[in-house]
Amino acid sequence: MKLFLDTSNLDEIREGARWGVLKGVTTNPTLIAKEEQDFLPLVKEICSIVDGDVSVETASDDPEVLLRQAHDIVQIADNAIVKIALTPNGLSAVRKLADEGIKVNVTLCFTATQAILAAEAGAYIISPFLGRLDDVATDGLRLLSDICEIYAVQGYETQVLAASLRHPVHVVEAARMGSDIATMPFKVFEQLVKHPLTDAGFDRFLKDWEGAKPHLGELPPSYLEG
Ligand code: E4P
Repeated sequence: MKLFLDTSNLDEIREGARWGVLKGVTTNPTLIAKEEQDFLPLVKEICSIVDGDVSVETASDDPEVLLRQAHDIVQIADNAIVKIALTPNGLSAVRKLADEGIKVNVTLCFTATQAILAAEAGAYIISPFLGRLDDVATDGLRLLSDICEIYAVQGYETQVLAASLRHPVHVVEAARMGSDIATMPFKVFEQLVKHPLTDAGFDRFLKDWEGAKPHLGELPPSYLEG
């Protein structure tokens, strides 16, 4: 399962990329607005940092405007992917763009029927929003499981991207269910690596090593560095 960051913050994206596990970024109008920076330079910079798909969202439900925005997005960078909301006009744009060979991430998916429509329209990615469903007392993971199962049975090539993730269990369950991608806020990304026993164990190993150094004979030079 590919791990994406759901952010437009450059520091977070640079740090994720530094770890060597970041395969893409999802942005949306809310996340872009939060950064209070010029849109095009910001998105260009994100695309240059990330070795993978960067979803950039359209901001219209007008069929013609949607297509024009999509064409503008793909000009930003080779790895810029168009993101379109799951509306009837959105689906119609996805179909036209897919026929032109343009990759579209269909966002704001809350039902299996919507996911079927997106795949039939030729979506490159479908984004079910787990956390927002959980927020209204509906099981987001159940929706993800349904979509993964239906896509496998039907042989759809559309990638499933688990979105609106709130905690590490969402990530683990998405991987278990066979989701192709999981996108998450940086806070959740950081939680994936942290464990107090890892920190305590590592600290102990370093202390024991320092204590033992005088009795270990000649060491490779790198072991004498900090
Ligand atoms: C996905 O592409 C969306 O940007 C995102 O996951 C929305 O998540 P939220 O519910 O945390 O806003």
